[in-house]
Amino acid sequence: MKNSRQIAPNCVTITAMRIASFFTAALLLAVSALSADELADYTKLMKAGAAANGAVRKAIGEKDATTAAAKAKEMAAAFEGMAAFFKAKGKEDGVKFAETAAAAAKAAAAATSPEDMTAALAPAGATCRGCHTVYRDGDKFKGL
Ligand code: HEC
Repeated sequence: MKNSRQIAPNCVTITAMRIASFFTAALLLAVSALSADELADYTKLMKAGAAANGAVRKAIGEKDATTAAAKAKEMAAAFEGMAAFFKAKGKEDGVKFAETAAAAAKAAAAATSPEDMTAALAPAGATCRGCHTVYRDGDKFKGL
């Protein structure tokens, strides 16, 4: 009799622990549910956006308005793609960073002088570090 009284509470404790660890495992799976394909698609956009960003700045420096405008449009398209990605993930701050970069690139494409292009592009600069701090872990994601 003494023994059976002791077993009952232990069983309850073990079951509770099993349930808890099951939910922890399920939660971890949900948090890291980003597929390799999604990362590859995103990286394609990120690389295109970063390369276009560099190309716009270089072209502005060379006073090549035609190339600068064309690259600014490529940059806007890439960051719009990233905004859509973060929207699908329900991460509004990510959407905001990407949309800010896209809007700056569009404004730069519409500007006519190198000075105006540089000024229009300026807000995009802060979005790189802002978004990376929250979501980038080297060439992978964090926080998604
Ligand atoms: C909306 C969020 C966001 C913004 C804005 C953003 N990045 Fe990123 N970036 C990421 C994430 C997330 C990664 C990690 C995943 C990856 O590498 O694809 C990354 C990775 C990178 C990489 C490494 C790519 C690779 O995998 O080889 C470069 C380069 C980069 N970003 C440049 C930039 C530059 C330059 C800007 C600003 C003009 C910028 N990023 C703006 C989210 C962002």
